[in-house]
Amino acid sequence: MAGAVYIKTYGCQMNEYDSARLADLLRETHGLVRVDDPAHADVLLVNSCSVREKAQEKLFSDLGRLNEWKAMRPGVVIGVGGCVASQEGEEIRRRAPYVDLVFGPQTLHRVPALLADARARKPRVDIAFVEMEKFDNLPEPRADGPRAFVSIMEGCSKYCSFCVVPYTRGQEFSRPFDDVLAEIAALALQGVREVTLLGQNVNAYQGRRRDGRMADLATLIGYIAHIEEIGRIRFTTSHPLEFGDTLLDAFAAEDKLVSHLHLPVQSGSDRILARMKRGYTVAEYRDKIERLRCVRPDISLSTDIIVGFPGETDEDFAATMALIEEMRFDLSYSFAYSPRPGTPAAAFADDVPASVKAERLARVQSRNLEHAAAISRAMIGRIETILIDRHAPRGRGDLSGRTANNRVVNFPGDGQDLVGRFATVEILEVRPNSLRGRLVGVETDVPSTISKQREAAIP
Ligand code: SAH
Ligand code: F3S
Repeated sequence: MAGAVYIKTYGCQMNEYDSARLADLLRETHGLVRVDDPAHADVLLVNSCSVREKAQEKLFSDLGRLNEWKAMRPGVVIGVGGCVASQEGEEIRRRAPYVDLVFGPQTLHRVPALLADARARKPRVDIAFVEMEKFDNLPEPRADGPRAFVSIMEGCSKYCSFCVVPYTRGQEFSRPFDDVLAEIAALALQGVREVTLLGQNVNAYQGRRRDGRMADLATLIGYIAHIEEIGRIRFTTSHPLEFGDTLLDAFAAEDKLVSHLHLPVQSGSDRILARMKRGYTVAEYRDKIERLRCVRPDISLSTDIIVGFPGETDEDFAATMALIEEMRFDLSYSFAYSPRPGTPAAAFADDVPASVKAERLARVQSRNLEHAAAISRAMIGRIETILIDRHAPRGRGDLSGRTANNRVVNFPGDGQDLVGRFATVEILEVRPNSLRGRLVGVETDVPSTISKQREAAIP
């Protein structure tokens, strides 16, 4: 029976990636088409996130709504995956007995089998940690436009005291070096020009090569840079502790590595960083950034910040604000601390009142937005390189692309189909969520595979 699958996805880019791969898999095994509306699907999946309390809470209210569709249409199957599934397992079916299948981040590839059982009215829970099995059993990725995400590692072994990821996604393990390169080469042949290497802690990447030697992230980047079609390389997320010399050298040597880095700092107070078990001090973080700015003066830096960690005093928070002032981070993420079950910090008294957390969060967010807006304004008049990735949604004939620092730029395309090409644009204006620009030049030296594909696509 062919049909449709709806996959609601929460949380990180790893989850987005997993959902996309799961959709590819279910298309292959069950002929399911991914749809955006649960009303049109007979398989309803939620790829959950448990990194913060709020995301986790949403799961059960979502499930209640999905169950209404199930009640109306017999035969509909409901499944839960992701980190809440990994953490709660059977408990999910206890709280929501109408859930037919539960899978974890590492058992994605087993969903087709679980689905077959669920359809035969045999509910299944499979949240095992099985290293690599997942990647070996997923279909070749399908490109969806000129930008693609590629997972290079799974899990995390950093055990920051507040974070649930090592428990829900398991210990770090890296995909083999050649597998990653083969995936990117396959994407390149489908028209991909920019890759983002994904993992919870990508700079701990240690990929085994065919000859048994290990390769680190910098080596991987160096090899990817040799793939002609790939013009831009990004990676996320990295941890300051492992941001070492080889990566600095990669920033110095590889033009294709963009001048943008997301490097979560979490706090500007050494006392709090130690309680968070981050393994670095503010001075060490600053030192890494200074060294990076020596080789890449134009680097744009974004970060993650947690406010209201247990024991965070006004003084600690002032230190975080001072660091934000000093670093002038570009568009960043900030969160109010919430205790996560099973983490060491959950044993600390969650002693910063909710109102204080909210107030601190608002201050961090507004200062960060001001900095990001100032960075955008400073771009006016500059010539920026963008990758044109789509036709602008609302513009008549407008094209849209992204700068190195991930700003969306819309500009008149004059009826040209330039999606998939690098171009230079002059930035003219800052709009609330994008920039407005004017086309200055378009890449003419398009790699042969890309131009051949374009010819093939012209009717
Ligand atoms: N390395 C990961 C980090 C995962 S969690 C990544 O790729 O994004 C993402 C962010 O959520 C963290 O950097 C941290 O700022 C925030 N976070 C994690 N646990 C949290 C908690 N218990 N409360 C509030 N924020 C948290
Ligand atoms: Fe979490 Fe720290 Fe790893 S934030 S994902 S344990 S680097």
